[in-house]
Amino acid sequence: MLKLSEDKLARVEKAIKEEHIQRIAEKVQEIGQESYLVGGYVRDVLLDRPCKDIDIVTVGSGIDFARNLAEKLDIENVSYFQNFGTAMFKMGDLEIECVGARKESYRRDSRKPIVEEGSIEDDQLRRDFRINALAISLNAQNFGELVDPFQGLGDLSAKIIRTPLDPDQTFSDDPLRMMRAIRFANQLNFDIAQDCFESIKKNAHRLKIVSKERIVIEFNKIMLCDQPSRGIKLLECSGLLKEFFPELIDLKGVDWKNGVGHKDNFYHTLQVLDNIVEGAGENLYLRWAALLHDIAKPATKRFNEKAGWTFHGHEDKGAKMVPKIFARLKMPKNHKMDYVRKLVLLHLRPIALTKSEVTDSAVRRLLFEAGDDIDDLMTLCRADITSKNEAKVDRYLKNYDLVKEKLVEVEESDRLRNWQPPISGETIMETFGLSPSKAVGDIKNAIREAILDGDISNNFEEAHAFMIEKAKDMGLEKQH
Ligand code: CTP
Repeated sequence: MLKLSEDKLARVEKAIKEEHIQRIAEKVQEIGQESYLVGGYVRDVLLDRPCKDIDIVTVGSGIDFARNLAEKLDIENVSYFQNFGTAMFKMGDLEIECVGARKESYRRDSRKPIVEEGSIEDDQLRRDFRINALAISLNAQNFGELVDPFQGLGDLSAKIIRTPLDPDQTFSDDPLRMMRAIRFANQLNFDIAQDCFESIKKNAHRLKIVSKERIVIEFNKIMLCDQPSRGIKLLECSGLLKEFFPELIDLKGVDWKNGVGHKDNFYHTLQVLDNIVEGAGENLYLRWAALLHDIAKPATKRFNEKAGWTFHGHEDKGAKMVPKIFARLKMPKNHKMDYVRKLVLLHLRPIALTKSEVTDSAVRRLLFEAGDDIDDLMTLCRADITSKNEAKVDRYLKNYDLVKEKLVEVEESDRLRNWQPPISGETIMETFGLSPSKAVGDIKNAIREAILDGDISNNFEEAHAFMIEKAKDMGLEKQH
């Protein structure tokens, strides 16, 4: 076994001195059942990364052990998952999960009931990666000792992802692990061992049997990495991406006609995604908007003798594809999806504003449609500049600055972000003695258009006067 380097030794020592670990170890030792800290927690301690989940593996029944431990820690709320022999409870803001060591594959959410108990080493062998198969003893005779039968420490130092068993076996136990390999490589900036990657290529088609919900959890972790393009490229070249995201694969490639090519929209999209990381931060769905902004380019691609390659309407069509993609991936159809759809739909609007003379009316319409998401839309547009021509990039950025100034100006005078009509439908009905009808909608729309066109200001007085005029044109009389 590799010796702990001094810095890693210090990290383990610090971790086992933490109050919560000391309390857990004390109670474990009272119970006297052989138990270890294991998995992601140990990996993250060694890498000095923050970790809020603590996994404990115990030799024997995980359920009985958890019941005992929780009782000794005065914790009443424990969730038991009899079927897979695990139990979970909260200790402050930490989540503690207990599992009995087993001989077959470890899967927290497996529907397969566990059958055979095993030793700590059996359990470590059936985990996904060597870096996730490290354990720290909680037992009296060797508390704090690192138990590393499969060179997990060596892999952490070499920054490599390898499986404890033959990768074909490990991936067959749970095909989602192929995505996890790429997710960890991306998150930790590790490489995937050659034989492991070959095995992923060979077994990629087996991702089909994994639920979309589990796939999306891993994919979102890739999306939240500092450089998500790396993970997505690995997903693509391993063959995993096409199993769950064919629309992204369709973005790949360049067509040529009459010596004219267009850019490869797959790599462009990935660059936009990397570009948005800084501005988006933890906003996962702004990252999704970057991923999907050009998703309809393949479907709208045309060649025109004069204009070359065009993608007219890709923003409209792309917006329509968003709910379909979310549905297929079993992602929630909620306000987050609407947000992604809206950003995809509007992603060309700010750039269009920079091309012609910027009219107040166009700026007003954009503010009206984007509402509070206007800043995120501008972040997306800036990320969308991927030209290698510095002068061009400079010009675009300057143009965006102008649009931004204009947006601020118009917003200050017209307050159109989350616009509320200055005249309500009820007022229209009361004024003209109307019941709910098309005429009421027509008047409301006419008021909104007049405000957006700048014919009247966004206030009650002007809107009221306009309403009277408009109604007169429609043959309606004010009631007394
Ligand atoms: N595990 C596994 N196979 C899986 C999922 C998990 O072997 N398909 C094991 C690994 O040992 C892993 C541990 O269960 O370390 C806990 O899994 P999980 O909480 O999903 O991942 P972490 O490694 O803790 O990483 P993260 O918190 O970043 O998801």
